[in-house]
Amino acid sequence: MSNATNDETAAMCADYQMDTYARTATIVKGKGSRVFTPTKQQYLDFTSGISVLALGHAHPAVVEAIKTQAEALVHASNLFYTPQVGLLARKLSQVGLGGKCFLANSGAEANEAMFKLARLWGSKNGGKYEIVAMRGSFHGRTLATLSATGQSKVQAGFDPLMPGFAFATLNDLESVRAAVTDATAAVLIECVQGEGGVIPATDEFVKGVRALCDEKGILMLCDEIQCGMGRTGRMWAFQHYGVEPDAFTCAKALGGGLPLGALVASKALSGVFTVGSHGSTFGGNPVACAAALAVLKTFEDENIVENAAARGEFFRKGLMQFVEQYDDVLEVRGKGLLLGLALKEPRAGELLDEMRLNGLLACKAGDSVVRFLPPLNATEKDIEEALEYLGDALAVVFGGEGAE
Ligand SMILES: Cc1ncc(COP(=O)(O)O)c(C=O)c1O
Repeated sequence: MSNATNDETAAMCADYQMDTYARTATIVKGKGSRVFTPTKQQYLDFTSGISVLALGHAHPAVVEAIKTQAEALVHASNLFYTPQVGLLARKLSQVGLGGKCFLANSGAEANEAMFKLARLWGSKNGGKYEIVAMRGSFHGRTLATLSATGQSKVQAGFDPLMPGFAFATLNDLESVRAAVTDATAAVLIECVQGEGGVIPATDEFVKGVRALCDEKGILMLCDEIQCGMGRTGRMWAFQHYGVEPDAFTCAKALGGGLPLGALVASKALSGVFTVGSHGSTFGGNPVACAAALAVLKTFEDENIVENAAARGEFFRKGLMQFVEQYDDVLEVRGKGLLLGLALKEPRAGELLDEMRLNGLLACKAGDSVVRFLPPLNATEKDIEEALEYLGDALAVVFGGEGAE
């Protein structure tokens, strides 16, 4: 089956899989920053599986950890202790908030856990239940997480949405203050909105949300699913702002490509869940946890976060030349290696198609922003190559106007 061509695979997906995705190429192999099609065509992969493959494809340490753990124990359930879960929980506490974690299988599930934690905490603290989320945010596709997502295109057709979510505007602290009521248990932010268009929160805003939550005695929650795990050049995006939330979620890059998510809580919140409050059959799967431990060790061994910060600056400078060169290119947004090239018109799809023809894969963040998520161990050479392919694509899409 792995030799099926793009057309055969596309036909099978169309016939047998629900039409929830707009796929492009068929990928059968990945190595480092490259992926390969059945006909051995190569792409430079600056999607990294949508911010999942922080160490690129098939990093030897992750592959080895998965193989070793698969041979020893693939699954035991949460009726039992497994060492990988304990080791990962300790590591997340050390690099996180010094408290406890709950392990899930995806970002949406980690957020569900965080929302339940906030509600349970609120029920014990004056009957508070509401979460103030941000317009333009993205928190997942389950009913609770899409109800917390501030984008009508994600919510359309799924009414009635789950009650208990109110909305404010990112980088408008007064709008958050206005949305907080006696029923508010928590304020939820992404320090860099990824799906919403690669929009970083301002320093004033994040510090202000922390202060407001302290003033009102409510929780500050961060969704670090896309912007966390070194992606922005710090281990967690909130670290750019010199504040700590009361709890945050991570997923995507955590499992090195295997499905894994985590709710990471402060010490003060670590006792809110008790036996029976929450659970998941697969959450904290030993193979996924072993992969995560290998990812986190490699982050330290190979200075991955520092590399993301340095390469992010290099890439940003390279992208800036296109802002100067093309009237149709509005600006470069983001932090570290979570970067968006914002266009004046909604033509991101066209540009991505042209980039793919040149051999470069990236994602959209809305219709006007091309989002780059290279592996965090990308080299300057990878980035120079990406800039070359992007430059050629821009010249085609925008009529070569800037290609002097
Ligand atoms: C910020 C953020 N939160 C939550 C999610 C949902 O994660 P998952 O797709 O693993 O459920 C995503 C996915 O893109 C995300 O970017």
